[in-house]
Amino acid sequence: MSKIKTIDSESTFIVRNPVLRPGLPVETCRFEGDNLPTTTHFGYFHEEMLVGIVSVFEKSNANWQFDKQIQVRGMAVLDEFQKKGIGEKLMHNVIKLAKENQKKLIWFYARKNAVPFYERLNFHKRGTAFEIEGVGTHYMMYRLL
Ligand SMILES: CC(C)(COP(=O)(O)OP(=O)(O)OC[C@H]1O[C@@H](n2cnc3c(N)ncnc32)[C@H](O)[C@@H]1OP(=O)(O)O)[C@@H](O)C(=O)NCCC(=O)NCCS
Repeated sequence: MSKIKTIDSESTFIVRNPVLRPGLPVETCRFEGDNLPTTTHFGYFHEEMLVGIVSVFEKSNANWQFDKQIQVRGMAVLDEFQKKGIGEKLMHNVIKLAKENQKKLIWFYARKNAVPFYERLNFHKRGTAFEIEGVGTHYMMYRLL
């Protein structure tokens, strides 16, 4: 039985807040487009407890001159559940569904420390590093499907 389920945007805050916005008010966990009908949030459950999340936005990036792109945001696993394969399962789920829906490309902004995790999943860096204020160094990453 799959432990991955779709969840509503507010439920993602349970993981976004401690992992991606530690010590910051919960309002900082809200992303533009979270509640669009085209946005999907996935949660990984460990014995009914939400421990990992990833969100998929139907958003194209002008670096690629074609449609059918998706943007991944807010990939996070609670500290005590990291390095147990949960992030990988969440991303495999995103890739599988993207292929089923005939998407052509997945792109996102990755934190520098997570780049090796994504490279293992066949994502590639595009361009040079840049800073996101208050969050740190990022790279654009992508994978053609
Ligand atoms: C990055 C993150 C989502 C990965 O999820 P995870 O569940 O810890 O990763 P997994 O256990 O599925 O990792 C799969 C493999 O990648 C490796 N890996 C995971 N994170 C890594 C990292 N930051 N650097 C290098 N390798 C990493 C794991 O060791 C594992 O390899 P193994 O199978 O040989 O042990 C998670 O660690 C996290 O939430 N980090 C903090 C928030 C963050 O940086 N999010 C990404 C924002 S872009």
